[in-house]
Amino acid sequence: MIESLVSQDEINIIKNNFSTLLNKEFRKKFLVDKLNCIKTPEQLVAFFSRYITFNSVVGGSIARLAGAAHVLQKSFLGDQINRSASIYSTSSKIASYILAAAEDEFNSKTNGIRVTHCEMAAFFFDSVNEYFSLISPFEENLSPLTNEVMNSYCFFDMPEDAAFFNGLGFHVASEELADLEFNCIRNFLKSNFIDLIYFLQNKENAFGLPSSFWIDIHCVVEKEHTCYGLKAIEIAMESYSGTLSDFEVKCNIESGYNGFCKLQYQMLEYCCSF
Ligand SMILES: [Fe+2]
Repeated sequence: MIESLVSQDEINIIKNNFSTLLNKEFRKKFLVDKLNCIKTPEQLVAFFSRYITFNSVVGGSIARLAGAAHVLQKSFLGDQINRSASIYSTSSKIASYILAAAEDEFNSKTNGIRVTHCEMAAFFFDSVNEYFSLISPFEENLSPLTNEVMNSYCFFDMPEDAAFFNGLGFHVASEELADLEFNCIRNFLKSNFIDLIYFLQNKENAFGLPSSFWIDIHCVVEKEHTCYGLKAIEIAMESYSGTLSDFEVKCNIESGYNGFCKLQYQMLEYCCSF
């Protein structure tokens, strides 16, 4: 089991190094309150249109951060400080634990099918529209929010160390809160649109999976992704050989972590405003 890579105690130790903002109960209440603003099929479709759009840039952005980690070889030499960074850096290991989350975005490993989460989302969305006999709205313009996601994941420029650590913190918060989001969304649908759930469970997509699979899979994989991200942080902090102090490293991770927490508020406010 992937989660066994990092025990709960280890997670707490790693997180205590940088996390101050996350109050899960408070966030859960905020999320549930926002979802409860959805009253009609049209509002539900608008919510999913925006929510899927927001998440549509995440997979590629994670892969980008993993790529940046890999080539920051000189920054992660650990006790091999006087040896070749090209050969002895831990950067590929850090990249591996970031990329683990992106791998799932482009593949359904539990089913052995190469179907991306974006494809699953499209099938899900089409099925929701079909159930309510609605026509999909036009492209939502979430570029201020999606640009912030991409920028925080160091998509636009090769990062300096500080921006990279910021990206790592942002990534872990994104995974951790995605788990909370999808579980709350599933519970909300079960309580308010249970017939839609039955329809989605019985509506097969082109890959032979239920259309509800996009939600179901995200209720499972995000915890693993969080653990992988925390493992990347642990290795990065332990092997860091650049010019930032330990304090600066922690501050940058914390800043990224808190950055995503703030962005999630904005995203949910937008997705649930009708
Ligand atoms: Fe994830």
